[in-house]
Amino acid sequence: MDHPWTEDPEFVRLYDVENAGMWDFDFYRELAVELGARQVADIGCGTGVLAVELARRGIGVTGVDPAAAMIEIARSRVADAQLNDAVQLIRGTAADLGPSSADFAVMVGHVAQYFLHRDQWDEALRHTFAALRPGGHLAFESRNPQAMHLDAWDAESTRETQAHPDGGEFTSWLEVADIEHDDADGDLITAHGHTIYPDARHVVAQETLRYRPLSVLRESVEHAGFVIREIWGDWDRSAADEDSPELIFLASKP
Ligand SMILES: C[S@@+](CC[C@H](N)C(=O)[O-])C[C@H]1O[C@@H](n2cnc3c(N)ncnc32)[C@H](O)[C@@H]1O
Repeated sequence: MDHPWTEDPEFVRLYDVENAGMWDFDFYRELAVELGARQVADIGCGTGVLAVELARRGIGVTGVDPAAAMIEIARSRVADAQLNDAVQLIRGTAADLGPSSADFAVMVGHVAQYFLHRDQWDEALRHTFAALRPGGHLAFESRNPQAMHLDAWDAESTRETQAHPDGGEFTSWLEVADIEHDDADGDLITAHGHTIYPDARHVVAQETLRYRPLSVLRESVEHAGFVIREIWGDWDRSAADEDSPELIFLASKP
């Protein structure tokens, strides 16, 4: 595949099958309710699962995502749920959010790791800060590089066969293809996602993500003007430590 998987409609159709777990969406929905959020900016909203979950609880959502194939699925999900009045979807990025338009901004599904270079991450945080009203909150998660077990990223450990939404079965697995070490910003890891479709086609999607350590994430969030409220290490809200699988940030705009 010579383009990102997020731009491939056939591949994106399988995204929700492969990510059927709701623990992260449940986590952010509960946080939004607790914070009393009325208007959420869902940055990198993908196929719109969280947007619909929030809108069902009476919370307005603006979802932005640069990938047309993802936004298209989000649009039909929102339309099917008859939530067009509560959810606005934009093919774009945090730069397309209106100033002071949200009281809670989220980046869910490791979206923060898609900003490969530090200037892109800083820019996303700057736009997010501008999109929030004073007193508003930002929450996002990034995988903890200290707790990564890359030896488990191979065909044997990650291989799964599941029902294809159009009938038949598909098989998928992940493999690490390259690691570019970077002591300053965290490693860049490239993985190959293999898929065998029901008609036996074997497609390989390549994805590179940045694995920023806690110290870099903390410093960059503060540099953007946020005050950090919590850094959790997992969806049960345990405190982050070196063994935590996730680094989940909650920060506020003063
Ligand atoms: C793993 S998906 C997560 C989607 C969704 N939030 C979820 O949890 O299911 C990562 C998403 O980040 C989006 N993304 C990539 N670069 C982005 C950027 N610069 N701004 C906003 N979103 C971006 C991708 O298009 C993709 O939809």
